[in-house]
Amino acid sequence: MSRVVFVNGEYLPYENSKVHIEDRGYQFADGVYEVFAVIDNKLADYDAHMSRLLRSLSELNMKLPYSKKSIFFHISNIVKHNLISNGLVYLQISRGVASRDFKFPNNTKSSLIIIGKNMSLDEHTNAFDKGINVSTTRDLRWKRVDIKSLNLLAPVLAKQAAYEKNCQESWLLDDDGYITEGSSSNAWIYRDGTLITRPVSNSILNGITRSTLIRGLKKRKIKYKEAKFNLDDVKKSSEAFITSATQHVMPVVRVNSIKIGKGVPGPRALDFSAAYMESLKLTEL
Ligand code: PDD
Repeated sequence: MSRVVFVNGEYLPYENSKVHIEDRGYQFADGVYEVFAVIDNKLADYDAHMSRLLRSLSELNMKLPYSKKSIFFHISNIVKHNLISNGLVYLQISRGVASRDFKFPNNTKSSLIIIGKNMSLDEHTNAFDKGINVSTTRDLRWKRVDIKSLNLLAPVLAKQAAYEKNCQESWLLDDDGYITEGSSSNAWIYRDGTLITRPVSNSILNGITRSTLIRGLKKRKIKYKEAKFNLDDVKKSSEAFITSATQHVMPVVRVNSIKIGKGVPGPRALDFSAAYMESLKLTEL
């Protein structure tokens, strides 16, 4: 069956899906997005992702272009049409199409696109079993990365730099040398029996996977702390992780030249992953 995407009210074949050249998402990155994980044909933490989407929209003075009910209906159709059992849904809303002008256009309807993608569970399991390598780079992003906006050039450059060093993720360093987060994930270290991640502020995205993992840690009575950490703390860590909708809880085994633990996923990795999995809210489609 061929792949189908949703573009501004229409279901189109993936190959013929197009947006206008004056879409403000294309010209200004003027829009927001969400990535929802699909796990066993269900949406993971759907309500939390929708709440964050509404917050991102409101911070940019934008509105949902369709009702919440119809958005759920279209997401559900995309998952079903494309037979996605495990993978993701990418949903993007831009401020719409208008003749290029920096200020907001009047009476322009926002553009909405929804794309579904299957992801192999085996690939994920293999990555989890091996762990990933991370390199660091300066955090060059704007000062409102709490908004999940389309403004992703700095993360693109960071991820490419990581890739060229044989790493799968980049951790971003603020001006004081503290790690803010990954280019597309939240960052964690496990040190002295405590899992540590940076507190929520305008300088990180408030990850849904991060919040779900924290719920799981509380349930399992695993010690955690929201605190800034730097590369010296990384050196003293026995384990490290990233979290995101697509990576779930993924062990990190090297940061630059620092080997984490024994250079393989540590003894707590399965625990933390299970804490996340058991705290997920799954929505049937
Ligand atoms: N990225 N931090 C950044 C900068 C991110 O881009 C993401 C997610 C996260 C984790 O958020 P969540 O747990 O809600 O997925 C943190 C998505 C997956 C992406 O851009 O593809």
